Amino acid sequence: MSTVRFLTGITTSGTPHLGNYVGSIRPAVRASKTPGVESFYFLANYHALIKTDEPARIQRSTLEIAASWLAAGLDPAHVTFYRQSDVPEIPELCWFLTCVTGKGVLNRAHAYKAAVDKNTAADVDPDADVSAGLFMYPVLMGADILMFNAHKVPVGRDQIQHIEMARDMAASFNHRYGEHFVPPQAEIEESVATLPGLDGRKMSKSYDNTIPLFSSREQLKKLIAGIKTDSRAPGEAKDTEGSALFQIYQAFASEEETAALRKAYAEGIAWGDAKTLLFERIDQEIAPMRAAYEDYMAHPEKVEALLLAGAVKARAIATPFMAQLRSAVGLRGLASAVQGKAEKTSKAALASFKQYREKDGLFYFKLVDPAGAVLMQSKGFESPKVAGQAIGQLQRDGAAGVAALQAQLEVLDAEALARAVHALAALAEAADVK
Ligand code: TRP
Repeated sequence: MSTVRFLTGITTSGTPHLGNYVGSIRPAVRASKTPGVESFYFLANYHALIKTDEPARIQRSTLEIAASWLAAGLDPAHVTFYRQSDVPEIPELCWFLTCVTGKGVLNRAHAYKAAVDKNTAADVDPDADVSAGLFMYPVLMGADILMFNAHKVPVGRDQIQHIEMARDMAASFNHRYGEHFVPPQAEIEESVATLPGLDGRKMSKSYDNTIPLFSSREQLKKLIAGIKTDSRAPGEAKDTEGSALFQIYQAFASEEETAALRKAYAEGIAWGDAKTLLFERIDQEIAPMRAAYEDYMAHPEKVEALLLAGAVKARAIATPFMAQLRSAVGLRGLASAVQGKAEKTSKAALASFKQYREKDGLFYFKLVDPAGAVLMQSKGFESPKVAGQAIGQLQRDGAAGVAALQAQLEVLDAEALARAVHALAALAEAADVK
């Protein structure tokens, strides 16, 4: 059975708050435990450069967000958890996609258009204070997604347009260079509520109405005491409709607990008591994670090590895939035969696998081009059967096979890798024709 690949990124420009937890961290951690799902979560620090020019803030936010995800139960052994800037293939792919994306398409991106509309209304130059980074935002996001050929991208509604753009980028690249990308789909979780903030508007950093996910018990209590309520006195029935306090409670409580609070509202619970209930309910869920969070914050080197290990996993996919894409667009070594316009590969020009046994008693294979140059070299296998299966996997899965078998292959430099992946693609194509 093939697995479904989920991928999502978090811009590292702020401190995670309860809204991020309910809307993204908690559902993502749960989803990552679903069988048949392969998850990719990353810290979008290249995106952060578009939003802030404070280096210390980006660094701190990266640590806080990573520590929050880990404390919330994300298992880096089970998912691929990495930092965007540790995967240099992403900005490279961003350039490839830039070259197949219409400028007019980007003119219509919501974030850019909003900036232009604001400038127009203020009667200043339409592009005043708009960086080219903001303009290119959707392409960088497309590269994040297509780099790993994610099927599903869990995002908020405001990001749907970006996923549609990524689909268009995949289609125009595939149209020019052959089928390399899977068109991604936005995954909108209808059941996940957007949390109201202290003032009743959507909890968001831009409204300055957030409750940080991790703060001390005392601080949490104090912030919750500040949630806006109406002026009804104890004993007077309260409305659950439009009550930020009620909605936040609902996001943490079971159905029975929510029903009990609804009843208490009708019976005129005092606002102070309702706030205590909310505080205790949230703290019950957060408290067990707080110790883990604080430990990660006190030991950033632990987080660093996990992220670097995640980058190795991510690059096991990204490096061979990028090699395939470089070759596809024509960024090729000149030593390999210059291919004709029709990209025909005759049988005589194909590479082939050679299997053999060494003095150490182990079984090896190599991929050899028609001129006899070794394109890929395996390590030793226990049996010829296992070696044969590895060859089968490379023939079938191409670049993905190289990524999967990484540990069994001798390390290749980028140039050699590109040639090997290209040769595998040619072999697969020839097999299809037969
Ligand atoms: N744009 C997203 C946000 O601001 C973050 C992001 C960057 C992202 N790259 C992504 C989300 C790729 C999903 C997939 O929330």
